Amino acid sequence: MIYLANSNRYEKMIYRRCGNSGIQLPALSLGLWHNFGSVDKPENMKEMLKLAFDNGITHFDLANNYGPEPGSAEENFGNILTGDFKSYRDEVLISTKAGYYMWAGPYGDWGSKKHLTASLNQSLRRMKVDYVDIFYSHRRDPNTPLEETMGTLDSLVRQGKALYAGISNYSPDDTQKAANILRNLGTPCLIHQPRYNIFDRAPENGLLNVLETEKIGCIAFSPLAQGLLTNRYLNTIPDDSRIAKPHGFLQKESLTAERLQAIRQLNDIAQKRGQTLAQMSIAWLLRDKRITSVLIGASSPRQLEDNLQSLKNIDFTEDELSAIDRISIPVLMYRG
Ligand SMILES: NC(=O)c1ccc[n+]([C@@H]2O[C@H](COP(=O)([O-])OP(=O)(O)OC[C@H]3O[C@@H](n4cnc5c(N)ncnc54)[C@H](OP(=O)(O)O)[C@@H]3O)[C@@H](O)[C@H]2O)c1
Repeated sequence: MIYLANSNRYEKMIYRRCGNSGIQLPALSLGLWHNFGSVDKPENMKEMLKLAFDNGITHFDLANNYGPEPGSAEENFGNILTGDFKSYRDEVLISTKAGYYMWAGPYGDWGSKKHLTASLNQSLRRMKVDYVDIFYSHRRDPNTPLEETMGTLDSLVRQGKALYAGISNYSPDDTQKAANILRNLGTPCLIHQPRYNIFDRAPENGLLNVLETEKIGCIAFSPLAQGLLTNRYLNTIPDDSRIAKPHGFLQKESLTAERLQAIRQLNDIAQKRGQTLAQMSIAWLLRDKRITSVLIGASSPRQLEDNLQSLKNIDFTEDELSAIDRISIPVLMYRG
């Protein structure tokens, strides 16, 4: 395998325009929520980042608190970026976020100007970059005026600390309001980052319509339901899986008997399509042109290789789509 070679990496990837903007995102983006913290192996991280980039994945998604330890994913990413990726800063798109708990006291969380500004300054230092490409409000803060949170995104873009503004986990109503405020400020909302997968259909209840109407991009996170929508748990819970890890966010309770049965049935459909379940789950999202990018996680280069193959077939027959609905809708994890 040739890493960081002057390869034809951009021919291997599909790029989709992000809403009404100048930015194109790779159909697959790589997130560093898990597997890039201080508890993880540096060589594995480096290999995954190189493999991703060499296959045209130009977008890497972070947040202030990714780790564990919180902040360590940004530190590790910064070390790799200033090492192997030194000459590639202009070829990659880096995002980070603030809005979940990061440090003690009233300024370490949520959506105030104080928190967002201090957090982005910390993120820039940890990643050793002058700016990020996208800065997100990670969640809606019900106690801070939306004007303050959006005004801060606009201000950070004007300061050159971020090129674009995004929102994540906002309801359809709040997304509409945020889009209006940002448009009036002259910093249009580039992108929304919701959780969306075969087991989580919440974005279908209004959010995707708002994004389409407002011409805002959509990057779907946890497309594999944190690993449930793969072959990982078909027979057992592997020791090195997210469910088994003490710091993993996927709980054993999510793997109910009914859901496991659904996973096995979905796996049968994937096999008939000539895909792994992971590939089919990614393709299922990409079949919808409103999805700009699918934001995957991976714990090994092998998984990443598997996921990259999903781009070979993102078309579904009506029969396949109805069969997927029939199996998954009764066991949805989130209905929205
Ligand atoms: N905005 C937000 O609030 C928010 C929240 C969550 C995530 N995100 C973003 O979305 C990114 C992705 O989230 P996620 O990690 O939950 O995504 P995911 O793609 O649904 O799950 C990734 C996990 O699935 C398993 N996996 C991946 N590919 C596989 C394959 N081919 N075969 C078998 N198993 C496979 C691995 O589990 P094992 O570890 O068990 O091997 C991997 O760690 C995050 O890194 C972050 O950037 C954003």
